[in-house]
Amino acid sequence: MKVIGVGVIGMGWMGNAHSSAYINYRLKFSHTGIIPKLIICAEAIEQRAKEAKERFGFEKYSTNWSDVVDDDEVEIVDITAPNAIHLEIIEYCIKKGKHINCEKPVGAFLHESVKAYNLVKDYPKQTFVGFNYRWAPLVQYVKELLDSGKLGEVYSYKGRFFSCYAADELSCYSWRFERENGLGAITDLMSHAVDMALYLLGDIKSVSAVMRTFIKERPLAKEGASHYAKGCKDDIKKDVTNDDYVGARISFRNGAEGFIDVSRCFVGPTSEHSFEIHAQKGSVKWNFEEMNTLYLYLKDHESIDGYRKIYSSPSHPFHGYFNPSNGTSLGYEDLKTLEIAHFLAKIFDKNYIHYADFQSAARVSKVLDAIMKSSEAKKELFIEECI
Ligand SMILES: NC(=O)c1ccc[n+]([C@@H]2O[C@H](COP(=O)([O-])OP(=O)(O)OC[C@H]3O[C@@H](n4cnc5c(N)ncnc54)[C@H](O)[C@@H]3O)[C@@H](O)[C@H]2O)c1
Repeated sequence: MKVIGVGVIGMGWMGNAHSSAYINYRLKFSHTGIIPKLIICAEAIEQRAKEAKERFGFEKYSTNWSDVVDDDEVEIVDITAPNAIHLEIIEYCIKKGKHINCEKPVGAFLHESVKAYNLVKDYPKQTFVGFNYRWAPLVQYVKELLDSGKLGEVYSYKGRFFSCYAADELSCYSWRFERENGLGAITDLMSHAVDMALYLLGDIKSVSAVMRTFIKERPLAKEGASHYAKGCKDDIKKDVTNDDYVGARISFRNGAEGFIDVSRCFVGPTSEHSFEIHAQKGSVKWNFEEMNTLYLYLKDHESIDGYRKIYSSPSHPFHGYFNPSNGTSLGYEDLKTLEIAHFLAKIFDKNYIHYADFQSAARVSKVLDAIMKSSEAKKELFIEECI
């Protein structure tokens, strides 16, 4: 048995998701002999910290995040607080020699993610980043199809992340809408969409992008409200100072052409994080809203034209950890459990191959930086060197 102490900082949506994932890991991955032990959580709102301690069985709680990093029993720190304080916490974790699992995009601003990567280049401990959508069994299956050459040369990639959390004009203003706390849809959603593109197709050579803010002001949220909270017409409003929408035409280094766009305020789509790949020998379509379904066309295998609908099943990577049944669905929280499983596996085996670390976040940031600059300059920008 290998017991490893865990501390979590920021007990909002993601703090809850990470804590549940450690508990689910113990249930679903008991064969590994690794036992993550929840030691301490920190949260700015004391009542929330106290409730989280009780709910997840942490031994202690604090309203001061440095108590988590200072705790000798804590070997892993999960950073699930707002982006603006990520880098400061990362720097302190490095000083104290902790393994770090930081939520995307890692830094509030793009240069901060690159700085975080530079700081850990020779760091002996592991880092991980919440690019959880990669771990869906059918995304993994698509990766296998691409890497084995079964789809052939890729011609076109369309990526998208249309989240509805700010679609209502009365959706509350929170740290996500404030430039001094970081960027908008570009770091919140484009980071996931670009990570998916880089993961599946490899490096991006150039981008030509636009960024827009459609809803200019929002009602102020009450302290600690989630970004799905709604205000009232008569509430005090605050100006939105970062982006609602980003669209980017993209050329990949492997010759494929693409387009990725993301929005936090379109009505209709709910959490449409999707991709469509058209290649020489086949095509695929996947959408997180129907995460357990893949549309697949393989030129050599199909007798008639049109996609086949495939359901997630134990024959696809990682599905079998959750249930033994074809077509019995996995959900978002299972992806978070897989993220924790990969992180723990990497801590105990440096050669483990399934990971998304600070280098992955820095690669994403480099592309996001080019997207921002391209939108400002209104021209195509080339990304010279890859990380
Ligand atoms: N991977 C994903 O799918 C995904 C989804 C949502 C959010 N995220 C990321 O997770 C992070 C948190 O997002 P969220 O949606 O959980 O936000 P949230 O607002 O729901 O939660 C953040 C929590 O941190 C607390 N907090 C603020 N300042 C603090 C401090 N100084 N010390 C301790 N706690 C503090 C807040 O009170 C709040 O409870 C962000 O980096 C975000 O980009 C990732």
